[in-house]
Amino acid sequence: MTAPPRPALSRVLSPSEGAADVTKVDVVNMDFYYGSRRVLEQITVKIAANHVTALIGPSGCGKSTFLRSLNRMNDIIPGARVEGSVRIDGEDIYAPSVDVVALRRRVGMVFQKSNPFPKSIFENVAYGLRINGMAGSREDLQGRVETSLRAAALWDEVKDRLQTSALALSGGQQQRLCIARALAVEPDILLMDEPASALDPIATQRIEELIYELKTRYTIVIVTHNMQQAARVSDVTAFFWLGKLVECGRTDRIFTAPTEKLTEDYVTGRFG
Ligand SMILES: Nc1ncnc2c1ncn2[C@@H]1O[C@H](COP(=O)(O)OP(=O)(O)O)[C@@H](O)[C@H]1O
Ligand SMILES: [Mg+2]
Repeated sequence: MTAPPRPALSRVLSPSEGAADVTKVDVVNMDFYYGSRRVLEQITVKIAANHVTALIGPSGCGKSTFLRSLNRMNDIIPGARVEGSVRIDGEDIYAPSVDVVALRRRVGMVFQKSNPFPKSIFENVAYGLRINGMAGSREDLQGRVETSLRAAALWDEVKDRLQTSALALSGGQQQRLCIARALAVEPDILLMDEPASALDPIATQRIEELIYELKTRYTIVIVTHNMQQAARVSDVTAFFWLGKLVECGRTDRIFTAPTEKLTEDYVTGRFG
């Protein structure tokens, strides 16, 4: 097995390093609580549009909680509470006037374990389009399903069997189907929580290549426990530790010349 090729690093600096990127997500002094327990502390970070930002750090440090706070997926957890501000395109997503359903359409999510519906491949992608009233005619619906499957690099593998069950696909194909389903409703941001950690190396490589392609059109935030993966796919890396954001910056710098000793210890495998 050869290692996946390493895509060329983006030359654009992250907002955290002073360049004039477009900020997509702006988090200021965010605290997150499960009941009385604070699991994220004073998180301040800008996430750049059309970049891939990787969240790394040991298990339990709050990566998934942070990711889910960006589309209010934590709202459904009793006792979960956010303080501070999270703005997307300048809009406070925790403001009372925010339509959470619309927010989650703009900020799509892909989970560690692929979770297709027990329906056909076609229906998995069409579902979100239907419930959001996004397809006018049958042809429009078919066109949007095809576009989404192409964007997720799955079309050629499934175009002749769109009516068969999604559950018959391989793990890697199911994960790309979940990406197609997320893309169908035209989000701007894609959140991915360890999207390849249950996949074999070849399926992982396809997902990594896909992430790299998708960033031209989407802002991507990916949690990964795999540091090589973070180095391969991301432009910006944010290192979390015990609920704090220790350091965030260009991936090549975080891995070669971090500012914080803690980051260096983590990326060189001294703990984790
Ligand atoms: N639904 C929940 N209710 C209470 N505590 C939770 C819940 N989800 C996560 N936690 C706790 O919050 C902390 C951060 O968890 P998490 O965000 O899942 O970390 P990571 O993704 O980095 O492993 C951990 O201590 C975890 O036990
Ligand atoms: Mg997690």
